[in-house]
Amino acid sequence: MSQGKVKWGVISTAKIGIEKVIPAMQQGVNLEIIGIASRNENDAKVAADKLGIPRFYGSYEALLGDPEIESIYIPLPNHMHYEWTKKAIEKGKHVLCEKPLTLKKEDIMELISLRNKYNVKVGEAFMVHTHPQWVDTARRVRNGELGKLRAIQGFFSYYKTDPGNIRNILEYGGGAMWDIGCYPIHTSRFVFNEEPLRVFSLIDRDPDLMIDRLVSVILDFPSGQCVFTVSTQLVSHQRMIFFGEEKKIEIEIPFNAPNDRKCRIYSDDGDLFQTSRQEISFDVCDQYKIQGEVFSKAILSDLEVPVSLEDAYKNISVIEAIFKSEKTGSWVSL
Ligand SMILES: NC(=O)c1ccc[n+]([C@@H]2O[C@H](COP(=O)([O-])OP(=O)(O)OC[C@H]3O[C@@H](n4cnc5c(N)ncnc54)[C@H](OP(=O)(O)O)[C@@H]3O)[C@@H](O)[C@H]2O)c1
Repeated sequence: MSQGKVKWGVISTAKIGIEKVIPAMQQGVNLEIIGIASRNENDAKVAADKLGIPRFYGSYEALLGDPEIESIYIPLPNHMHYEWTKKAIEKGKHVLCEKPLTLKKEDIMELISLRNKYNVKVGEAFMVHTHPQWVDTARRVRNGELGKLRAIQGFFSYYKTDPGNIRNILEYGGGAMWDIGCYPIHTSRFVFNEEPLRVFSLIDRDPDLMIDRLVSVILDFPSGQCVFTVSTQLVSHQRMIFFGEEKKIEIEIPFNAPNDRKCRIYSDDGDLFQTSRQEISFDVCDQYKIQGEVFSKAILSDLEVPVSLEDAYKNISVIEAIFKSEKTGSWVSL
C-alpha cells in the first residue's frame, strides 16, 4: 500500500464519472486517479486527455491488470456492478461501486466473503452519506433536537423517457427504485439509525419500457414511518423532511447537493408563519470529493468505509421487499 495517496482507476467513461466524480476526486488530497478504461480505447483516450489522467485502457480487464492501480471506482450500468466489483476484488483491488451495488442481495453475500478473503475495502457510492448536511441532520436527530423523530417524508423525481438511457432499460436494472428510490431508503435508515420492519409499495410501470416510473412506498420503522415517492417521469424535484414531536428539519437539496454554493437545511417548531424557522447553511463543498477522500482514508488507515457491503445488503433487501409488495399488493416483512 502506498503511503499518502491511493492510486485509483476508473472503469468506464460514464457521464457521472466524467462530469462529476472524477473531477471532484482529483481535488482530493490523499488520492490520485492514474487510469481510466473504456470498451473503446479511443473513448478512454479522449476522457484521459480531457481530465488529465495519465493512463488509458481499451478494456476494463486491462485496467484491472495494472498492478499499480490500488482502488477502482465503478460507474457502470447497474446490472454490471456485481460482475466488475467481483473481478476487481479478485485482482486484490479496493472498490467503490456506484449505487445500487448489486440487483440481488445474495450477490452482496458473495462479495462480503470475497472482500474478507482478499482483505480489501469495498463500499457503495452513496455520496450523500458523508455530506455535511446529512452528517449534521443525523447528529441533530440523535441529539434529540427534534424531540422524538417519528415521521420522514421524501421525494425525488426527474423526467427522462429516452429509451436508450440505462435508467429506461429494465434488464440493466433501470427504473425509479434502483436509480433514485435507493436514496430515501438509505437516508431514512441512516437518520432513524434503524432498519424498517416491513414495507408497502404502489408502483406504476411504463407500458412500453416496463420500468417502474412512479413509486410510492411506506417504510415501517420501529420508531416511526417513512413515506416517499420517486419518479422518472415527473417534473424534477427533491426534498426530505424529518418530523419530530417538537421540531422538523427540511433538507432543501438532499441528493444532488450543489458544489458551487452553500447547502441549506431548515429547522422550525411548526409555527405556520415560520417565525421560528432557522436556516442552517454549510460551507461550499463537493460531496464526491469528500466521498473519495473518506474512502481513500479508510484504505490508508485501515478504517471502515462510509457505506459498507453490510449496509448495501440492508438497503437492497428493502428494495427487493418493495418489488415483492408490488407483486403481492400487501405488506412485506423484512
Ligand atoms: N452517485 C451519483 O450521484 C450518481 C449519479 C448518476 C449516476 N449514478 C450511477 O452511476 C452509474 C452510471 O450512470 P451514468 O448515468 O453515468 O451512466 P452512463 O453515462 O450511461 O455510462 C455508463 C457507462 O458504462 C459503460 N457501459 C458498459 N456496458 C454498457 C452497456 N451495455 N450499455 C451502456 N453503457 C455501458 C459505458 O462506458 P464505456 O463505453 O466507456 O465502456 C458507459 O459510458 C449508474 O449505476 C448510476 O446509478 C450515480
